[in-house]
Amino acid sequence: MKVLGIESSCDETACAIVEDGRKILSNVVATQIPFHQIYKGVVPEIASRKHAEWILPVVRQSLEESHLTLDEVDAIAATNRPGLMGALLVGLTFGKTLAWASGKPFIAVNHMLGHMYAAHLENDIPYPYIGLLVSGGHSIISKVNGFDDLEILGTTIDDSVGEAFDKVAKYYDLGYPGGVIIDKLAKNGNPEAFSFPLPKLDKGDHRYDVSFSGLKTAVIHQADMFLNSGFEKSVENIAASFQETACRTLVSRLLRAVEDTGLKTVVAGGGVAANSRLRAMLAEHNEINCIFPPLKLCGDNGAMIAGVAYHFLERGETSPLNTTACARIPQFKRGLANLEAFGRR
Ligand code: KG4
Ligand code: ZN
Repeated sequence: MKVLGIESSCDETACAIVEDGRKILSNVVATQIPFHQIYKGVVPEIASRKHAEWILPVVRQSLEESHLTLDEVDAIAATNRPGLMGALLVGLTFGKTLAWASGKPFIAVNHMLGHMYAAHLENDIPYPYIGLLVSGGHSIISKVNGFDDLEILGTTIDDSVGEAFDKVAKYYDLGYPGGVIIDKLAKNGNPEAFSFPLPKLDKGDHRYDVSFSGLKTAVIHQADMFLNSGFEKSVENIAASFQETACRTLVSRLLRAVEDTGLKTVVAGGGVAANSRLRAMLAEHNEINCIFPPLKLCGDNGAMIAGVAYHFLERGETSPLNTTACARIPQFKRGLANLEAFGRR
C-alpha cells in the first residue's frame, strides 16, 4: 500500500510517498529557513504563505521522484497537530482536498507520533520501548507500546530542549535555527568551561520530567557566574557547556525510565535527535540499545506521516473530511494511556 504523506506544521513544506509503512519511494522537504533566518525565528504568517505557495510543487515533485501517478497512490495523509495553526491548515486542507477529489481515504496524523515513528522507517523495532521525543516544541519521555500508544512518563515543565537551543543561539546572535549551529560550534569548545546548573526535579511526580528554562537563563543572563577559572568566555565554550548540560539533563531522566521499566531499548525522534553530543552520550551506555533515525528523518518530513498513516489504514481507520487542525496537544499528562493525548481525534 502506497501512502502520500504531507507535513506542513512549521517551517518545512514536505511530502513523501511510503510503501507499506517502511519503503520510502520519495521524500521531498522544502525548507523555509532562509525566509525566517533574518528574523532569527519562525514567523508564522511567512510560514503559512510559503506553504500555500510551495505545497503543490512539493507534492508534484514527490510524485515525480517516486515515478508514480496520483492514481497509483492508495491513500493521502497529512499532519493535523500540533504546530502553527495557519501552517497546519495549508497541508491539512490540501491533503483532504486531494483525497476528496481523487476518491482516496484520508488520514490525519499527529506530528509527534510521526517523529516517534521516524526510526521505524529504516529499522525493525519491536514494542515496547522508551521513547525520547525532542523537538522545537516538545521534550517527552514515554513508554511506547505501539505506534499510537504512548504512556507519558515525563515532559518538560517549562521550555522544550529545542527552544532552549534556539533561544541561546538567538541571544548570542549565532544564527537560526540554533540547534545545528550550537552543535557545530560546540565541537570547538570545552564542555567543562562553564558549570551550568542541572535541574533539580528528582522527586515523586517529577522523576522523569525535564526543565530547560533555568539552564537557558543561566546561559543567557548569568554565564559569568558559572565560568570556571582558566577558561575563556567564548561562544564555542558557551555552546559546548550548554549542550553538555542540556544532553545530561535528558540522558539522566531517560536512564531513570530505563531502570524503572526494565526496557533496554530507547528510540529517539525529533529535530534535537540530530544532536551529535546526545547521540555520543547515549552510545556510551552499553547497557541500552539506543536507536536514532537517520539525520534526514530527524527533522520534519512527510515520510514519518505516511508511515504512521499506513498503520492506521491497516487497522481500517481513516479520518473524516471535517477533521480540523489543532495547534496544541491538549494534555501531556503522565501515565495517561494516550488515545486522548496522542490519538488522531
Ligand atoms: O522536529 P523539528 O524539526 O521541528 C519541531 O517539530 O519542532 O525540531 C526543530 C528543533 C529546533 O529547535 C532545532 O534547533 C533543533 O530541532 N535541532 C537541533 C539540531 N538540529 C535541529 N538541536 C540540537 N542539535 C541539532 N543538531
Ligand atoms: Zn517536528
